[in-house]
Amino acid sequence: MSFYSIRAIEQEDISFLWDMLYEIRSLRCVREGKALPSRDVLQTPDLARYVRDWGHKSDRAFIAINAQIPIGAAWYRLFTADNPGYGYVDDNTPEIAIAILPHYRNKGVGKSLLIRLLEQAKTDGYGHISLSCDSTNDNALHLYQKLGFEQVGVHIIQNWIMKKVLR
Ligand SMILES: CC(C)(COP(=O)(O)OP(=O)(O)OC[C@H]1O[C@@H](n2cnc3c(N)ncnc32)[C@H](O)[C@@H]1OP(=O)(O)O)[C@@H](O)C(=O)NCCC(=O)NCCS
Repeated sequence: MSFYSIRAIEQEDISFLWDMLYEIRSLRCVREGKALPSRDVLQTPDLARYVRDWGHKSDRAFIAINAQIPIGAAWYRLFTADNPGYGYVDDNTPEIAIAILPHYRNKGVGKSLLIRLLEQAKTDGYGHISLSCDSTNDNALHLYQKLGFEQVGVHIIQNWIMKKVLR
């Protein structure tokens, strides 16, 4: 039996999405042994748009739970050409964000969350789904490629835009 379960986001989990956004933002600092950014960095528009005003009809998120505590989250939002996310492809392609608490990484949680989210995207009728990934983030890249994401562009140097066809 798995040590975690997965469920759809509830109102009380929104603060956890901010925590996971911080994990994503601070990852490179952790890897390079640099000081972590202040949590205030989450309020910059480029980052805040991934969680702020959560609850739009097209917003979807799943949370992995262990002993009633959230340990990871995967979510998507639709962005628009005038406010594109880092992994923006078009207005009809939702963009994914995902993070697992450090202690629970490399145990299959991210893969399960992503598979659940992809199922949801199909149910919601999308033809494609996208994300952005630091091409030096081996864990994430491995997972995305294994699940069928392909590079379709570059956002900034080292930051790939990846897309998957949903069948
Ligand atoms: C990226 C992340 C979400 C992946 O979630 P995870 O729970 O750690 O990944 P999983 O355990 O589900 O592993 C998925 C696959 O990657 C493989 N993997 C895990 N760590 C690996 C590593 N260091 N090198 C190569 N493959 C690795 C696993 O073996 C598994 O592949 P498999 O199915 O062939 O066995 C997680 O590591 C994380 O939160 N990282 C920090 C935030 C982040 O990078 N977010 C993504 C931003 S683009």
